[in-house]
Amino acid sequence: MTAAVPTVSDADAAVILARCEELARHSSLTDGIERTYLSAEHAAVNYRVAGWMAAAGLTTWQDAAGNQCARLSGRTRGLPALMFGSHLDTVRAAGRYDGILGVLVAITVTGRIAASGRPLPFALEIAAFGDEEGTRFGTTLLGSRAVAGTWLESWWDLRDASGTSLREAFAAFGLDPAKVGDAARAPQELVGYLEAHIEQGPVLEEENRALGVVTGIAGARRFLLTVTGSAGHSGTPWPRRRDALAGAAECITTIERIARAEGLTATVGHLRVFPDAVNVIPGKVEFSFDLRAPDDADRDRGWTLIEAALTDICATRALHLDSNQVHEAAAVACSPRLRAAIAAGIRSTEGGAEAPAEPAPRELPSIAGHDAMAIAAITDVGMLFVRCAGGISHHPDESVTSADVALAVDALEAAVRALAADYPAR
Ligand code: GLV
Ligand code: MN
Ligand code: MN
Repeated sequence: MTAAVPTVSDADAAVILARCEELARHSSLTDGIERTYLSAEHAAVNYRVAGWMAAAGLTTWQDAAGNQCARLSGRTRGLPALMFGSHLDTVRAAGRYDGILGVLVAITVTGRIAASGRPLPFALEIAAFGDEEGTRFGTTLLGSRAVAGTWLESWWDLRDASGTSLREAFAAFGLDPAKVGDAARAPQELVGYLEAHIEQGPVLEEENRALGVVTGIAGARRFLLTVTGSAGHSGTPWPRRRDALAGAAECITTIERIARAEGLTATVGHLRVFPDAVNVIPGKVEFSFDLRAPDDADRDRGWTLIEAALTDICATRALHLDSNQVHEAAAVACSPRLRAAIAAGIRSTEGGAEAPAEPAPRELPSIAGHDAMAIAAITDVGMLFVRCAGGISHHPDESVTSADVALAVDALEAAVRALAADYPAR
């Protein structure tokens, strides 16, 4: 038996995976990956990614919000652009592919089109967003919301764990807060937005498919909840205790119970206990709460139920509950035009007329949030999902195969060509 000859796509996928490995080394942690907005690691990956963009034949710039951008002209100068995007920041203890893969796939696809000598009837752009995860400042999608022109003035006073404000972090990164509006793009400058991303779920793997078409993205709300009781000696008798941590624990299991019953996705992932000592009753607990649903009305109804239940729990325990919403993103439907182009792109990877008939490309929703949610405010969005091992994400074990990455590059290029063939018909 002879070994299969590697294809151009295999070689492209190998480069993409090697680049993912390289970017993973730009981390603020010595024992894992964490790369946050406006950090030294952010500057370093922007520099590296800009080099790869330039080598692919693209014009590059860093925008007024620290997003690393690139452009390939279409048939004539100044045409509106089909924008590709995803993010270069990570959660704490992250994997190598969430966000990063989409940026690197986009560079390869755009480079192929640049090298083909067949310019498109629109320009191509890439936005490698600096903040999607919200790891540093608590609120999320900062990079893509700057591009969407939905930046909020109230964000300037957000502070990271070390007390640095977003305004100060901008200046330290060499950006001018007064100019953040320059990052905003107008709808007429864009033809649409495409994002490739790992699935972050098990559906494609369970169904033995490499790629999928995203139908829409769940709406999300995030809160910082604070339960206040009274700190005191751990020897205090039961009737006199107002233990904020015991109350928060009951709140957290109640969130889980209500969310399961209502078909919502809910996560408490961060907790701070004050004063945090072994022999002191906790007087205050802060915890994060992330709530998602494909339908915003279901999500909002869920929050009303949960807030009422938590208020009752706290009242029964003589505790006080404060809730502060730190993020809200509406559910987004992917555009039928872009879904059809991505489906056509996936079909084109399935081997042509002689290949056995494949079932239609899998369509699936995303519970995970994406930059596409922010960009939907200014243009149509579409997303291509790539299978990831075990559906694992936000974890060092995130994994994709080279074969799937090769298919993703081919499918995305074919999707762009399908859009170009129909352009400007919409
Ligand atoms: C981002 O990955 C999110 O879904 O929170
Ligand atoms: Mn993520
Ligand atoms: Mn992501």
